[in-house]
Amino acid sequence: MPVQFSDAGKKKLEAILGRYPNSQAACLPALHLAQAEFGHLSDDAIECVAAALTLPSAHVFGVVTFYTMFHREKVGKNVLMVCTNISCMLRGAYDVLSHCEARLGIKRGETTPDGTFTLIEEECLAACANAPMMICGTEYYLDLTKDKVDKVLDELRKNPKSEHVV
Ligand code: FES
Repeated sequence: MPVQFSDAGKKKLEAILGRYPNSQAACLPALHLAQAEFGHLSDDAIECVAAALTLPSAHVFGVVTFYTMFHREKVGKNVLMVCTNISCMLRGAYDVLSHCEARLGIKRGETTPDGTFTLIEEECLAACANAPMMICGTEYYLDLTKDKVDKVLDELRKNPKSEHVV
């Protein structure tokens, strides 16, 4: 079903376009805006962004599918991204990820039935010195242990962290 930006979204998009030399350069912030508006980037949302930026849909689709912060499916209120790249892996990232799975009752790539958490296995998130780590929204959770993960999950259950940066 076709989707459209809200009036507030259109104003934000105009402001975004005003900050970039051309619409192609505005593609990433426009996609963040669309994800904040629509929750995830369906084919219709991609069409909407492509039309707004007068770019080919295939170009926008390519950008969406390159970056893991863009979601093609509906996600939970909290999107947990657990890094399992080399530094984190060597310092227990898979224990952290398994612990998240056990606590949430889901596997990586899944969303809890109540829509509170989506769990994603992620590549390096640029905080290797504090491995193992994960992010939720714009928050970094560093030097994780199972106890720390438990505290983070309890806190996020009470106060979800939107990942929307627009
Ligand atoms: S390897 Fe995990 S943050 Fe870099």
